[in-house]
Amino acid sequence: MSLVDKIKKLVKKEGDEAQPAQKTDKHYLTGKEIREIAKANSAEMKRLEKRKHRKAEESEFVTEMKDIGNILEIEDLHSYFFTDQGVVKAVNGVSFEVPQGKVVGVVGESGCGKSVTSMSVMQLLQGPQGQICSGSIRFKSFDFKLGEDGKPIPIYENDENGEPIYDEVKDKKGNTVVDKEGKPKLERRQKRDEYGTRLYEMEEKVFDIANMPIKEMYRLRGRQIAMIFQEPMTSLNPVFTIGNQLDEVTLLHVPGATAEEAKRRSIEMLSLVGIAMPERVYNSYPHELSGGMRQRVMIAMALEGNPRLIIADEPTTALDVTIQAQILDLLRDLKERINGSILLITHDLGIIAEMADYVVVMYAGRIIEKGTASEIFHKPMHPYTIGLQKSKPTIDSTADTLFNIPGNVPNPINMPDYCYFRERCSKCIGKCKGDYPEMVQVSPTHFVACHLYAEDKTDE
Ligand SMILES: Nc1ncnc2c1ncn2[C@@H]1O[C@H](COP(=O)(O)OP(=O)(O)O)[C@@H](O)[C@H]1O
Ligand code: SF4
Ligand SMILES: [Mg+2]
Repeated sequence: MSLVDKIKKLVKKEGDEAQPAQKTDKHYLTGKEIREIAKANSAEMKRLEKRKHRKAEESEFVTEMKDIGNILEIEDLHSYFFTDQGVVKAVNGVSFEVPQGKVVGVVGESGCGKSVTSMSVMQLLQGPQGQICSGSIRFKSFDFKLGEDGKPIPIYENDENGEPIYDEVKDKKGNTVVDKEGKPKLERRQKRDEYGTRLYEMEEKVFDIANMPIKEMYRLRGRQIAMIFQEPMTSLNPVFTIGNQLDEVTLLHVPGATAEEAKRRSIEMLSLVGIAMPERVYNSYPHELSGGMRQRVMIAMALEGNPRLIIADEPTTALDVTIQAQILDLLRDLKERINGSILLITHDLGIIAEMADYVVVMYAGRIIEKGTASEIFHKPMHPYTIGLQKSKPTIDSTADTLFNIPGNVPNPINMPDYCYFRERCSKCIGKCKGDYPEMVQVSPTHFVACHLYAEDKTDE
């Protein structure tokens, strides 16, 4: 039997079809093995890329939420990287929800799959190596309703008698546009929001992002789900002014928006994020601003599309502590104002403690514990979460050295069958030699994956 066949026999899930590295003790791969891995990977990457670029009817990726109170539901998500050494299971069966109007914090040490989870939600994994292999990412979108002509349906204003109101059409310079007979061209007056942006009829739909062709993602990215990254300088284009970059978002996402309307909205957004001289910043280039200001601009840009979900991936890691506190205050304030939800990704438990309603703790591509912030901070159960809490410096700790969880995360290509934390765990019981622990529910909202809490506590 060839090596590929042997491995395929071990495969249980869709997406696991490609070649994982072999579970042997040797620390190198032979040329033959590398070729076999490359061959199996290439077939799997081709299949997944083809699926991502397929044409699909909307009914194929429209679905229902399990709980209508949620804005995002991730279920059994598997996102892998197909490398020459084998398959990196960066996200390996992750499930959690983001309720409407809440902050969900995802925490875990570097490399545990936090960013890959958030990039999967945006379908931004770099293909063909990076792929969502299986699982669901259900997102409740609130988007323009399309008319029979495929265009968004404007909401018009009427006068007190219920009659339509007409305005003269103006060109870019503000001059009245005239028709062939020299009469001013008229258009029906459309309703506008508080920033003067045109309003259209909206409708709610649930999409399964994991099953959505990539070219349909334009409906969600930037408009419904916005992302704030760690280093704003790399997300802003150095050769365009802040104003250009902000206006572009409105011009791209709001049908019929004029340059003047886009500018008004950009300046409003800049003042909303606490920028004192929005006009000046509007005309500045990214390098003229400080790190904190650039992050505020990024947040303004994220708000421009009026998103339902903001994903903030280490939003304050590149900033110093005082600015960090200001940006967190701003995010909290905005969440209230837009009644949106935030998926906050960080390795910093302190930030999670300040901001999050719910906490998801990840370790080596899996969730090992999740619950409300109070459960995770006051009743942590998984030995890893307990270790993380202990390693957090506090103002009244008297120890000379900080606690550190001994050992390392296992090799992501060659994950063991048993608990991934076993080599570092000081509370091992006999059962830990066996299978990977199931998720145990310990309260309506608190879950932990550890044999210590399994119903059958017999220590075989
Ligand atoms: N482009 C890539 N190719 C191969 N492996 C990757 C790639 N990007 C990320 N990974 C792997 O995925 C895992 C999770 O990474 P990531 O989600 O970025 O971690 P973090 O929790 O620090 O955000 C890591 O083991 C990393 O090595
Ligand atoms: S399952 Fe066992 S090894 Fe894993 S964290 Fe729990 S006690 Fe430790
Ligand atoms: Mg990251």
